[in-house]
Amino acid sequence: MPGATLGVGVRGPGSGVRGDAARLDPVAVRARFPILGRRVNGHRLVYLDSAATTQKPEAVLEAIQRMYRYSNANVHRGVHTLAEEATAAYEACRQRVARFLHAPDPRGVVILRNATEALNLVARAWGARLGPGDEVIATAMEHHSNLVPWIMLTRERGVTLRHVPITDGGELDLGAYERMLSPRTRIVAVTAMSNVLGTINPVAEMAAAAHRVGAVVVVDGAQSVPHLPVGFAALGADFLAFSAHKAYGPTGVGFLVGRPELLDRMEPVSGGGEMIREVHLDRATWNDVPHRFEAGTPSIVDAAAFPAALDLLEELGMDAVRRHEEELVAYALERLRSLGFLRLHGPLDPARRGALVSFVDPEIHPHDQAQVLDGLGIAVRAGHHCAQPLMRRLGEVATTRASFGIHTDRDDVDALVDGLLATRRYFGG
Ligand SMILES: Cc1ncc(COP(=O)(O)O)c(C=O)c1O
Repeated sequence: MPGATLGVGVRGPGSGVRGDAARLDPVAVRARFPILGRRVNGHRLVYLDSAATTQKPEAVLEAIQRMYRYSNANVHRGVHTLAEEATAAYEACRQRVARFLHAPDPRGVVILRNATEALNLVARAWGARLGPGDEVIATAMEHHSNLVPWIMLTRERGVTLRHVPITDGGELDLGAYERMLSPRTRIVAVTAMSNVLGTINPVAEMAAAAHRVGAVVVVDGAQSVPHLPVGFAALGADFLAFSAHKAYGPTGVGFLVGRPELLDRMEPVSGGGEMIREVHLDRATWNDVPHRFEAGTPSIVDAAAFPAALDLLEELGMDAVRRHEEELVAYALERLRSLGFLRLHGPLDPARRGALVSFVDPEIHPHDQAQVLDGLGIAVRAGHHCAQPLMRRLGEVATTRASFGIHTDRDDVDALVDGLLATRRYFGG
């Protein structure tokens, strides 16, 4: 796959889009997040953990309040005004997600609890068609959410699970991927952006290659959807999973975006209210997609509030978001490298990576480092980041990860660098 570059529906270098994108003002953006005005341990909060969950803008908080104050009711089948308002707000979320991702048909948007539930749904429902002799290809940089459901499938259905290896530069070995593909390949599951390395994978190229052997493509968009211009059609994927809470929306709501004709061929994996058409004591028929996959009372208020987050992202423009974060990553890499004592992981080229940096100070355990940084008001994450196989490949037990968002600026990166120097002094380095 020579020349494969940014393939997650990202308009990459040379497209002219970057140069045209309006500049994002992170200080103005910060003012829209009430929590970012608070102090932590006597310091300004420097929130560098957006990859775990993002903070919520005022507009989302207001939308949650508004729903509970004025329109709280269960959705669907209600005839009273509140039920109609709640249903309209819930269904508006589906429409809004479809529009944000340029997905042609909102019937392809399944509203779930998070990206993990979305990936499990595909593994169970599409995986039910697989058996011994069939192969699933994942990659060695997947989050456990896009790994464990496939491991479960190997146990339940005797399917073979293979992994695309990673180069020393922190990118997928695409030659190995090409060689792995065969008519036995039934599913390719890949993250669009690594939550540890930041690597942006060439998903569109990988999807085209997978389709040539008749496989379906499942993309984990948990880290890409909030940070890169992602179009469902441009991606070439059959299924895309992501969580609202990593995209400035509420916790408790996530999405599986799929091609409706494939969803139509899937059996539900969870039974109960909402997902049926007709129930008898001994048999039932299923509702149409996407409702077939939404058993029980959903996260109504959270779903209803999520469009306010997407409005903010669209107001800023996803090209501007990407440009801002790419510049910030370039700056962070340069400053962190200049310290001279960190092991930095992931591609060196900021154009090939998203809004986070993972590193290790060989003298200090990442948990100790994160604790000292917290004392300075700096929130980073330390650990295996739910990617234990990747940690083994990197030869690390844990890393420290600083992840950025639309409100992050160079002052935040400078605070991190000062904090890392202070941590060294604290431990006598
Ligand atoms: C790449 C990636 N995939 C999946 C997930 C799982 O997201 P959630 O916990 O919202 O289901 C995460 C969360 O960190 C992630 O970073």
